[in-house]
Amino acid sequence: YRLILVAGARPNFMKIAPLMHVLRNHQKIKPYLVHTGQHYDEKMSDLFFRQLDIPEPDINLEVGSASHAVQTALIMERFEKVCLNVKPHMVMVVGDVNSTAACTLVAAKLHIPTAHYEAGLRSRDRSMPEEINRLVTDAISDYFFTTSVDADENLINEGIPQKKIYMMGNLMIDSLYEHLKKAESLNHAIQTLDGKKTVQLDKTLPDGGYGIMTFHRPSNVDEPETLAKLVNGWGTISKDVPLLFPIHPRTVKNLKKFGLYDILASYDSIYLTEPVGYLEFIYFIRHSAFALTDSGGIQEETTALNIPCLTIRPSTERPVTIWEGSNKLITVDDIEKEVRLILKGKGKTGKTPKFWDGQTARRIVDILEDIFYV
Ligand code: UD1
Ligand code: UDP
Repeated sequence: YRLILVAGARPNFMKIAPLMHVLRNHQKIKPYLVHTGQHYDEKMSDLFFRQLDIPEPDINLEVGSASHAVQTALIMERFEKVCLNVKPHMVMVVGDVNSTAACTLVAAKLHIPTAHYEAGLRSRDRSMPEEINRLVTDAISDYFFTTSVDADENLINEGIPQKKIYMMGNLMIDSLYEHLKKAESLNHAIQTLDGKKTVQLDKTLPDGGYGIMTFHRPSNVDEPETLAKLVNGWGTISKDVPLLFPIHPRTVKNLKKFGLYDILASYDSIYLTEPVGYLEFIYFIRHSAFALTDSGGIQEETTALNIPCLTIRPSTERPVTIWEGSNKLITVDDIEKEVRLILKGKGKTGKTPKFWDGQTARRIVDILEDIFYV
């Protein structure tokens, strides 16, 4: 059975890695890995393939960056050719990026059964491009692999039959548990962007006494006023606690465009770096006091590691990280207050959602076997 697996952007790689590992020597299911090329920088893509031990993609569509419509259209055009050549028995997509929705649309029109891992998540905020991708993907997928029960409920409310929904747990947490030990042994140094400081992993930042930050949501970083307020908030809190900030390409571009980069760089206790590798990042989360972020995946990783997470967003598609985990939604105005609470010892929970146990890929492949063999 030929199974096309699609990955395009950074958060997809840690989701496909455990599936590729379980399928590596599978007798009957042969994965065919398609990289759309949505992310292409060494530090947004190749580095993850190496660190997560993902085999070279069978094909890279090399679509690169463009507007939503152009990027989606380019993925569709190129992916259609792949499907016609490979004639897969199923296409499996993960997450909620443009590559996810584009490839599902192509497969559905070619009558190829499609499976969506991370189905059913809903922020109910349609100004997020990811929410549109989630809605489109789930409207036309055939099989739904979910990470938590709220996602099952969302799908059922949208009319998806229960028998097509499989609550499997979280592939990101498979990757996390698989790589933590290796990450723990890291002790090399990372250079800051200005080249003036080095961050030695096991020495520079106080263990349990710094914040790890990432920001890249258009709603936070695409408008000059919003981004300026964030820069100010980060600067203020950095006077109390050092912050490590590996900057996403979208964010660095906008900081420079809006004339905010030099202000951010002037704060002594904010360590600005390029995006860091997966192993480095999970090391940094594990040893931090808290994460300050707008990332989807980091809300989940912090929950699994019981590290307090402050998410600067009005909503989340991952509410289980709030109900059961260590995540909290806040506004930019609350940063100072919330960080102080964490530094006083608040924000840990000790609960991990059901099936976030490192066995999700195995469960999914068991279901795929059932689907293919019956
Ligand atoms: C994309 C996803 C988002 C996900 C994020 C993870 C969509 C709509 N968005 O957002 O859901 O959370 O990835 O990181 O699919 N760029 C580079 N190098 C790269 C990739 C991008 O410099 O390797 C720059 C380009 O200037 C590009 C910008 O970043 O225009 C945005 O990239 P894009 O893939 O469109 O969206 P992300 O913000 O990365
Ligand atoms: N990540 C990383 N290096 C970084 C920032 C993030 O390895 O510099 C990892 C992080 O551990 C998580 C994933 O990237 O596994 C999250 O991706 P991202 O925040 O880009 O996307 P989102 O989850 O918001 O869609």
